[in-house]
Amino acid sequence: MTLPLNDGWQFFNTWQDSVASGSCQDGTAVRLPHCNVQTPHNCFPETVYEFVSGYSKTISLDKFDDATYLITFEGVAHYSQVYFNGQLCASHGCGYTAFTVDVTQYVRQGDNLLAVKVDSRESLDIPPFGNTIDYLTYGGIYREVTLCVKRGVYVADVFVKATLQNASAAITFGNFVQDTQYTVAVKDGKEVLHSQTLTAREKTVEVAFDAQTLTPWDIDNPKLYTFEVTTDSDVFVTRFGVRTAVFTKHGFYLNGKRVKIVGLNRHQSFPYVGYAMPQSMQRHDAEILKNELCVNAVRTSHYPQSRHFLDACDELGLFVFTEIAGWQHIGGEQSRKQALANVQDMVLQNRNHPSVVLWGVRINESLDCDELYMQTNKLAHTLDPTRQTGGVRYLRHSHLLEDVYTYNDFNRDGASARKNVCGKNAPYLVTEYNGHMFPTKTFDSEEHRLQHMLKYARMLDGVFADEDVCGAFGWCMFDYNTHADFGSGDRICYHGVTDMFRNPKYAAGVFSSQGKSDFLSLCFVTDKGDYAESVSPDMYCLTNADEIKLYSNGKFVKSFTHKNSPFKHLPNAPILIDDVIGNRLTEEEGISPCIAQKIKRIFAEIKKSGEHGVSFKTKL
Ligand code: GAL
Repeated sequence: MTLPLNDGWQFFNTWQDSVASGSCQDGTAVRLPHCNVQTPHNCFPETVYEFVSGYSKTISLDKFDDATYLITFEGVAHYSQVYFNGQLCASHGCGYTAFTVDVTQYVRQGDNLLAVKVDSRESLDIPPFGNTIDYLTYGGIYREVTLCVKRGVYVADVFVKATLQNASAAITFGNFVQDTQYTVAVKDGKEVLHSQTLTAREKTVEVAFDAQTLTPWDIDNPKLYTFEVTTDSDVFVTRFGVRTAVFTKHGFYLNGKRVKIVGLNRHQSFPYVGYAMPQSMQRHDAEILKNELCVNAVRTSHYPQSRHFLDACDELGLFVFTEIAGWQHIGGEQSRKQALANVQDMVLQNRNHPSVVLWGVRINESLDCDELYMQTNKLAHTLDPTRQTGGVRYLRHSHLLEDVYTYNDFNRDGASARKNVCGKNAPYLVTEYNGHMFPTKTFDSEEHRLQHMLKYARMLDGVFADEDVCGAFGWCMFDYNTHADFGSGDRICYHGVTDMFRNPKYAAGVFSSQGKSDFLSLCFVTDKGDYAESVSPDMYCLTNADEIKLYSNGKFVKSFTHKNSPFKHLPNAPILIDDVIGNRLTEEEGISPCIAQKIKRIFAEIKKSGEHGVSFKTKL
């Protein structure tokens, strides 16, 4: 039996031991997910959330002698100590991974007091802390909490490994008793496709099943199945998909077919509430990525994110690259130990999601540290032999201990040549580009937003030009609040293709125009007063239509296609509208085609350079 524990909490904005004992009375009633402070829109320092707070909740329970009581916290920022009936029973040192506390020995019949001391200070000796960070880390019990009551032998974990070649599940029992009978079933909705009853001789058993007849999981058809394990006293259900996902030096292959990864980085923050958003909003971001921005991949920068977000990625068909917490800084012994624990938690908690295709086992943009990263890499492979690893760096030709060279390419003029980054023999994936190279606000000038859009087009064009590049993730999906060392003076990093509220900028259209539903965005206005010296820059249209037709005052001027794009490799590349006159001078004014051509050239030059910028030759 699993019960949500999200309602009826008391929040204390200072910690006192009396929170754990239940004698502290000055709490505020809150529900989870909860941020320890409501933040302004911008211009606020990290100190607003940097404090130690307390949460408590009374839970009424029946105490059974054969029961195990497990409380799971899905995300608490950042260091938590859990008290049950006044006893300290667990602590957890990562704000981005879930943890489960076995409170069985402390449970009483009737009312029980659950209390959590939450340290949200950035002085903690755990990742991502220890140096500057380009994002805010917030505080509070910001994801959901559940209570699971298990009677007798229960199923503690199921890891489904299902590729096109073979499929099996590793099942681990809790309170294991020799010769436990259990039934496994593969289901498609309610339909049972495969079922067998077995006897467990060990605490962990491996059961093979036939996946050849199952429909593969694909981004266009994200078919999901469930795997169920039943004992006399428990049922465990997990979803899975059958797919083979491989990064090679000749590109990324899903089920044997090469797919170019076109993705965006996603932080998990929102305006006003930090990280504390419920299932609906986590899913909403995935829906925006898939259906509005039309990307096929997301990097959960720079930490594991909500299971609701990953569930939606599984269902919608979005590839996920998820990674351990951290930002450029590798800490001391204690912090490194935590980084290893974070790899373990990240893999164990997310390995049944078919959307996850790569583990990030380095702290984002940290320097080479073979001692640590050999361990993180090995651990990920041991816990999940089915997936490859990467580790995000900004270094060229750094030590590749992992399977994929994952590189943040902040090259000014579009994609760097792969051979200059990591040679030709490694699978190569661009994990960030743009970002701080060209911060752009939704309220910046037309020209600025146009340049922002063109930078995305240029980069992606370069990524598509080299078939062997696995793909690229832009920095980033939306603007975010940050520390004073980064961002604009208002402490917002305007790096998104959408703003903090997920409203699109022109650059978003470069992605949306790659999708299948009708899309058209004009990256210009016809009011020349919006442009400096009334000189309008190039006019671009982003669309997935094969052809667009330009009309002026109701009269047809000219058709344009993607061939009218300076970008030759990106599918549905931005269309350049470089002629707003068409044949009208001849058809409407009776001017000969030869003279009309000359006049058009003069108009084009005036449009481009302004009437004072026209060359002497043209004036003549
Ligand atoms: C990268 C970093 C990101 C973000 C980005 C801004 O170096 O990994 O977290 O700060 O720069 O462009």
